[in-house]
Amino acid sequence: MSKPFYITTPIYYVNDVPHIGTAYTTVAADVLARYRRLRGEEVFFLTGTDEHGQKVADTAESKGFSPQQWADQTVTAFIDAWRELDVSNDDFIRTTEDRHTVAVQTFLRKLHDQGDIYLGHYEGWYCVGCEDYYLEDALAEGRTCPVHGRVVEWLSQDNYFFRLSAYAERLIEHYETHPDFVRPEERRNEMLSFIRGGLNDFSISRTSFTWGIPLPWDPQHVTYVWFEALINYLTAVGFGADPERFARIWPAEYHFVGKDILRFHSVTWPAMLMAAGLELPGCIQAHGWLLVGGEKMSKSKANQIHPRTLVEDFGVDAYRYYFLRELSFGQDGSFSYEGMVNRYNADLANDYGNLASRVTNMVERYCDGVLPAGEAGGEAEDVLAGVLAEAVAGIDREMGELAYDRALGALWSLVRATNRYVEDQAPWALAKRQETARLHTVLYSASEALRAIAVLVSPWMPRTSARLWEMLGMAEPLEAQRLPEAAAWGRCVPGQRVSKGEPLFPRMEVTK
Ligand code: MSP
Repeated sequence: MSKPFYITTPIYYVNDVPHIGTAYTTVAADVLARYRRLRGEEVFFLTGTDEHGQKVADTAESKGFSPQQWADQTVTAFIDAWRELDVSNDDFIRTTEDRHTVAVQTFLRKLHDQGDIYLGHYEGWYCVGCEDYYLEDALAEGRTCPVHGRVVEWLSQDNYFFRLSAYAERLIEHYETHPDFVRPEERRNEMLSFIRGGLNDFSISRTSFTWGIPLPWDPQHVTYVWFEALINYLTAVGFGADPERFARIWPAEYHFVGKDILRFHSVTWPAMLMAAGLELPGCIQAHGWLLVGGEKMSKSKANQIHPRTLVEDFGVDAYRYYFLRELSFGQDGSFSYEGMVNRYNADLANDYGNLASRVTNMVERYCDGVLPAGEAGGEAEDVLAGVLAEAVAGIDREMGELAYDRALGALWSLVRATNRYVEDQAPWALAKRQETARLHTVLYSASEALRAIAVLVSPWMPRTSARLWEMLGMAEPLEAQRLPEAAAWGRCVPGQRVSKGEPLFPRMEVTK
């Protein structure tokens, strides 16, 4: 059996609720998962929630709940948000599930037995927001955390340590032999020089609170939340429970992570896997932050936006489209409501929506809603078919680079070329002059281009594609379409019933 394409998002802390930042990672991963399925690949797409640790325990306490009650309530906010965004994850992992305890304890036991985990003492400045220690000179003014701005606390405790330092050489070698292990490249270089600077062993257990997975050999200690959370990627594919399944699915092709959590994923995690004798993931892909008013969203700054508020105004598909079209995946980018309205009107209402309305309208009007047959060999039609072939190749190339914005750019050259084709061929004039054969060829070709667009854009905008598919009266189900065959020219069947539906993207005015 072949190996599925395995892709993950970070698991999100349940001390917070979903917002457009966490949705950004999740939707990006979803589009890739859908794109790979469209190419006929088996995909395993994982997301979930990170439910242990001091931060979650503190939040629960401040709200008057037990950590488990709190996690049980908050997790539904994530499940609902992803469902509302049509996220097609194959599994949703919660770190408080038994399967995760089994996997984590299996992992810990192995490392402990072979001497990669030992008891030691650690003191240092700790930020609960990051669940991480800081060196004195990495702190911001007033001994505050550079990320959260809150005052750090001095922690001094007996902890178990993971022998991270022992893996520096092997990590460097892996980076050197796998240039795409961490992307984008500037982040890879940062991580590599961090490793070259020398690695310290790091503490993987806590005794100051109990909300976590106990170490199997010393249950006074709970596992450090990061060490435990990373293992979710193994748990979900059967580590410690189903060796056959694990062997089939692991390693992940991609871990998608925000740049804020890259170090854990590209230094700690691969070292943990090396210690456990497991294969490393193909690529740790870091992406930038989504900024609102120039700042990263956070609970403390109260600048978080729930995806639902935008979905209510723009619809799910436009939401999914906008962030991946507007931002370049590896870089930071800003959200603005006006920017979203402008892009919606230009790309979706004008370019795409109008094209769909116009073409289906004309088939209804001039051909009683029955798709006519076209004649092959026309020059303009060959050009359009050529643009389609280029778009298919362009999308595939750009998706290989995770350049979502450029992939959509390649697709929009087809949308625009089809609009130009309709404009240049002027079917309304052909109808007037009763040039029926030519009129039929133009309407068939424009419908055919629309059909291909519906397939190609479906990873981003599945609902709209389903509607357009229905308007075009396609007999084969949309879900059964596979690239590249589905993008080959000429799959609309003359005689199929075309109907003009409601506009796909009604124009919007800036009201907010
Ligand atoms: N629980 C850890 C991750 C453990 S993974 C083994 C965590 N959780 S988090 O809830 O804080 O979410 C972190 C991730 O959410 C970021 O790495 C990023 O993927 C995403 N984002 C959170 N805010 C974001 C933005 N403002 N912009 C883009 N992505 C953002 O860290």
